[in-house]
Amino acid sequence: MENLITMEQVSKSFGSVRAVDQVSVSLGKGEILGFLGPNASGKTTTVRLLNGVIFPDDGVIRVMGYDSVKDGNEIRRRSGVLTETASLYDHMTAGENLMFFAKLYGVATDTAKKRSDDLLERFHLSDRQKQKTGTFSTGLKKRLGIAKALIHNPEILYLDEPTSGLDPESARDLIRYIKELNSGRLTVFVCTHNLAEAEHFCTRFVFLDKGRVIEGGTLAELEEKYEGSVTLRIDYRGDIGTALPHEVAWKPLSGNAAYDSARLTVATKKQVPAVIRALAEKVDLYRVEQTNSGLESLYFAIRRQAK
Ligand SMILES: Nc1ncnc2c1ncn2[C@@H]1O[C@H](COP(=O)(O)OP(=O)(O)OP(=O)(O)O)[C@@H](O)[C@H]1O
Ligand SMILES: [Mg+2]
Repeated sequence: MENLITMEQVSKSFGSVRAVDQVSVSLGKGEILGFLGPNASGKTTTVRLLNGVIFPDDGVIRVMGYDSVKDGNEIRRRSGVLTETASLYDHMTAGENLMFFAKLYGVATDTAKKRSDDLLERFHLSDRQKQKTGTFSTGLKKRLGIAKALIHNPEILYLDEPTSGLDPESARDLIRYIKELNSGRLTVFVCTHNLAEAEHFCTRFVFLDKGRVIEGGTLAELEEKYEGSVTLRIDYRGDIGTALPHEVAWKPLSGNAAYDSARLTVATKKQVPAVIRALAEKVDLYRVEQTNSGLESLYFAIRRQAK
């Protein structure tokens, strides 16, 4: 896979704070990388380093073949960045902001006008085109910030907390749109605390803690490494006693008017399909839910082992 981003042993301190500590990360074309970690772990600093806005004290950063220290302008021309605060000019209208940034990135006026109209429509801001952004609500600013990040058709898109402050419809629309752009090979680097969203959105994850990379991999790789037994909750009708393979531990939960419920513990994730098949043959299943899986439980497992 062609690497669009390579960071090798990159460190950056602010005074006595080591914000980024010997970080090595690479990102292939078409990936959606989830950059995860608690507050102050170095995510935003990494995005700023990758865009050549600040320079590393140590290590090498190459983005699309360019050196982040020498070729920052070229990197920024080909990258879209949604920063934590959206970085818009409050005294300009939404349309003026988009046209201003398009010009800054060297987009021809006709093309910029068309893209601006398309993006305003895409993010349901057409009726706000002539409104000054200083009077926008938090979510509206964020939506316009994303439009701004896309105005010059970038090859890499950095999203720092893209959906915080967005209403559920806008968050869902944004994720769908970024996925659509990604299937056209846009590469995405996303910093987020929204693990439920990241789980379905990102193709791979890197976990940071106090500026250091503590883990990385795809969801499947991380599950393989960290997950022991899997707990399922089922709602069913029928005699469960004869339905389950011997190795499955189960505990009846309170039944409700419609179904009985039980909690099952299965030794490994690999056994789950066989268990569900065996159950489905003997009882009527109304719900099967895995209760201890997903990125959130991995996040805490990874953080526990880092301590
Ligand atoms: N310009 C700066 N001057 C001094 N310290 C800074 C500066 N920028 C970042 N830091 C420090 O570097 C560390 C990492 O900050 P950073 O903003 O990268 O964290 P983050 O992972 O993005 O956190 P959050 O989830 O809160 O956005 C913090 O301790 C922060 O205070
Ligand atoms: Mg941040």
